[in-house]
Amino acid sequence: MSKEKTGKLEKMKEIRDEILNLEESPLYQDRIKNGVFPVIGEGSHDAEIMFIGEAPGKNEAKTGKPFCGVSGKILDELLNHIGVDRKDVYITNVVKDRPTNNRDPKPFEIEIYSPFLDRQIEIIKPKIIATLGRFSMEYIIKKFGLEDKLEPISKLHGKKIEIPDLEMIIVPLYHPAVAVYNRNMLDELKKDFEILKNK
Ligand code: URA
Repeated sequence: MSKEKTGKLEKMKEIRDEILNLEESPLYQDRIKNGVFPVIGEGSHDAEIMFIGEAPGKNEAKTGKPFCGVSGKILDELLNHIGVDRKDVYITNVVKDRPTNNRDPKPFEIEIYSPFLDRQIEIIKPKIIATLGRFSMEYIIKKFGLEDKLEPISKLHGKKIEIPDLEMIIVPLYHPAVAVYNRNMLDELKKDFEILKNK
């Protein structure tokens, strides 16, 4: 393995170990009580596309893998639609532990977990950050100081947002869960995903 690859792996392991021991997070307490796992992320550390969801759901916390439940099936279908292999992208979430009953993540939970996401972005240095859902969209747009570009996801989905001075763009996408019971949304998502391929 090249020195660069080993370095990335080591840094990712440090992140994993810190999250495993994140006792100050209330979600850590739930994780231990329920005997489940955090979801660190999965995929290539050299990925050009990094997908960022919200937080693990039930299946994800059971397995420690991102997007492995119903939303994951949709995500797989969308990747398949643009001919991209899941192993060639990196998939993670803003919040790494499951909020009880799949409720929305709270601002202080995003605050606790987002420094880990920041470090993952720094390690992978993707060309495209594809956010899945409004929580990751808002976090990423603000992180790069682009508050003036912030609009509702219904306006921003499928558009690319350039990050000045960095060879990186943000592409806000709807969360795949919106398509679970709605084929029209699936078509919309498919169209939006095509922009990832065209880049
Ligand atoms: N929803 C998310 O936002 N992330 C997952 O990993 C699964 C479902």
